[in-house]
Amino acid sequence: SDALIDHPVDLQHKHQDFALFQEVPDSYTWIQRDDYPSGDSVISESVPVIDLNDPNALQLIGHACKTWGVFQVINHSFPMKLLDNIECVSRSLFSLPLQQKLKAARSPHGVTGYGFARIASHFSKLFWSEGFTVLGSPLEHFCKLWPQDYTKYSDVIEDYVKEMKALAGSLLWLMLGSLGISKEDIKWAGPKGDFEEDRGALQLNYYPVCPDPERAMGLAAHTDSTLLTILYQTSTSGLQVLKDGVGWVTVPPVDGALVVNVGDLLHMLSNGLYPSMLHRAMVNRNQDRISVGYFHGPPNGVQISPIPKLVGPCQRPLYRAVTWSEYISTKAKHFDKALLYVSTCA
Ligand code: SIN
Ligand code: FE2
Repeated sequence: SDALIDHPVDLQHKHQDFALFQEVPDSYTWIQRDDYPSGDSVISESVPVIDLNDPNALQLIGHACKTWGVFQVINHSFPMKLLDNIECVSRSLFSLPLQQKLKAARSPHGVTGYGFARIASHFSKLFWSEGFTVLGSPLEHFCKLWPQDYTKYSDVIEDYVKEMKALAGSLLWLMLGSLGISKEDIKWAGPKGDFEEDRGALQLNYYPVCPDPERAMGLAAHTDSTLLTILYQTSTSGLQVLKDGVGWVTVPPVDGALVVNVGDLLHMLSNGLYPSMLHRAMVNRNQDRISVGYFHGPPNGVQISPIPKLVGPCQRPLYRAVTWSEYISTKAKHFDKALLYVSTCA
């Protein structure tokens, strides 16, 4: 589990109770929140919503991955009840008193537990959000949060992760299938081709209401260090993606839909054909917001490099081989330049 460490700075002592803020304090004020294009989007298109029962789903997914790096899926057959349940668990968790939550704080060199999002250490301003990261069993932390009935909460997490892993496996085949990649091209997919050995982490996010949302940032722009990420963003909007480097586009919540992101590892696997897209989360004045991200990656020790079939005589491999944990260490050091550091041109 050490593989996922990328958060060396101890931010836990900076946690304050958001409910006590009448205004946005200095330490949370993003004057320059736009090192990327700002303002309203000049893009009139919207992120594709793909029905997995559509006979053209494969082509639609391929097109969405190439042009957006993100899409929403409906008719995904992920149990709706589990979406409701994970929202309830998240709400119960984040509504605990701060002192209680800090009992389950992520340690400075740890991965799991309560705290600011793990990318927070790369920014000088604080995020208007709280997070909780789960990798493997959440019991160690949950028994501190809910000494009486922690098992009912951890059961939900366990079911959610199991179902997400299965969905991520089938989505990955669709995404790769649209590039003409089949099971024999991916060695780590396992004998059944169901990516049984793949690993996943879960991230619960909470964005409290904010007295001045224009000056605050829920989660700053980043790409995910995954193969793919599946995000449940409940019913309040906040997620934005950067389209073609020119404008931020809001990904509106669609009832029962899940957002699928191309991560940096799929970017590398596809030799850059499927770009991992910058995204961020904004906050709202009147509505708080919950989102739940499932981060899907390859098994321990598996080297990720451009799939040979996608590399031809005039298309050399753009990235060198790295494992998930090597990539995460690179990201921890170089953050938004991590893909450059693993590129063969560097
Ligand atoms: C994330 O990028 O990990 C979460 C984005 C969101 O809350 O919508
Ligand atoms: Fe993300």
